Amino acid sequence: MEDALEKKSKKMKDRGLHKNLKEYSQRNGRPRPPNSHALQAGIKAFLESPAGHSLLTEKGIDLESLELPKRFTIYEPLLLLPANAFTAPPAWRVIYAALTAEQQEDLYASIARSFRRLGVTHVAMNAPIALNNVKGAENRMRSPAGLVPLYGDFKNSRLDSLSGDENAQPSAEDLEAAFWVQTVQNNGIKQTWAPLYTMFSRGNITEKARILGKGSSANTFEGLDAASLGQNVADISVVDMYAGIGYFVFSYLKRGVKRVWGWELNGWSVEGLRRGCIANKWGCRVVRVHEDGHMDFSISALVASLADSDRVVVFHGDNTFASEILAEVQRAISEREKWSPIRHVNLGLLPSSSQSWDKACRVLDFQQGGWLHVHENVDVRRIEEKKEEIARELTALRVRVYEEHGISGASIVECHHVEHVKTYAPGVMHCVFDMRVSAPI
Ligand SMILES: C[S@@+](CC[C@H](N)C(=O)[O-])C[C@H]1O[C@@H](n2cnc3c(N)ncnc32)[C@H](O)[C@@H]1O
Repeated sequence: MEDALEKKSKKMKDRGLHKNLKEYSQRNGRPRPPNSHALQAGIKAFLESPAGHSLLTEKGIDLESLELPKRFTIYEPLLLLPANAFTAPPAWRVIYAALTAEQQEDLYASIARSFRRLGVTHVAMNAPIALNNVKGAENRMRSPAGLVPLYGDFKNSRLDSLSGDENAQPSAEDLEAAFWVQTVQNNGIKQTWAPLYTMFSRGNITEKARILGKGSSANTFEGLDAASLGQNVADISVVDMYAGIGYFVFSYLKRGVKRVWGWELNGWSVEGLRRGCIANKWGCRVVRVHEDGHMDFSISALVASLADSDRVVVFHGDNTFASEILAEVQRAISEREKWSPIRHVNLGLLPSSSQSWDKACRVLDFQQGGWLHVHENVDVRRIEEKKEEIARELTALRVRVYEEHGISGASIVECHHVEHVKTYAPGVMHCVFDMRVSAPI
């Protein structure tokens, strides 16, 4: 059985499908990939050991009728278990709760063994990203502080390297020594990250598909084709105010935009973005922007050394400086060559991206306008209302920007589409509002 599994897995790998298969989560009766029983097999192997067997006898539970958890995700070489992997179903919870620390270690090792043929060397348990840290302050970098390493050497532990401060920046040595994982999504786009320090949201896969032009006709992502842009997609730039490890950046690049200007606070994510660019063969430049807004690199030096192959420039710092810095970049580039106007701004922060709406209105091309993609968590009963509220606020912000720059004409900001990305919590939907910002009229 295992040999057949391995053969099938190898065949899929050869056909380039292997990673997509691993992205698969066993839910909702969708067809199962051939490795779907690997978690149960690993747990069963442990329960068949003398220690496991005596526990089953003690609790009066029969292994054959015991229901075991099934769900897992592989981000090679990490096996990631859901937060409830050891608390449901109920009979399994009873057994797991009775395990000694040593027995737990044996269980994790047995699970890891079961996935070894699929490239797994580490096991961890996932946890939702907390919006606040243990001290009550905002977890601005959305660090996955709750992720629990279970098996394997995770190198520098969070507590050793960062003294428990999840907002601290990593040193070059931290980055070098850390445990990195990768996955392939949406048409072969590679993504890399250090799971102890950076969140990864698989739920955004549909939004990435939309940017790639692979959505349905009902949820088209406007403004990435010549007809809706009024110019070639290869001649425009995009700003991602919350670039992360490149979740959306890579989709825009694959769609063919000339360059993405990204902003990202978290040094771990910036490094993931840089490594991901290398893996996908896109040039990437990283510019550190310190807390007071000063940069390690002068803008003229950056612009002078920028090659066409540098498809991403990521500013490692707070996007509060985005409009001033990008205005200078535009001036410096325009002196040397044709500037590729910024026609899209992605605003991917939950529960709300409103803190950067003003900056977004300032960086979007003044003459042609474009699209702002506003991510928000919204009460499902208030989505229509929210749409109007965002349009009103963005219109007011854009008008103010025109006034400040002496541009005559009004601005129309309209919502052309609301994408329901995923249910964030009961009654709360992660929505993306595609806001069309007109040229001055
Ligand atoms: C939700 S996460 C990743 C976003 C990604 N677009 C996604 O949807 O999966 C938000 C990211 O924004 C970064 N971030 C939060 N506030 C920021 C700010 N003011 N400037 C730059 N980056 C910021 C965090 O470090 C985090 O990596």
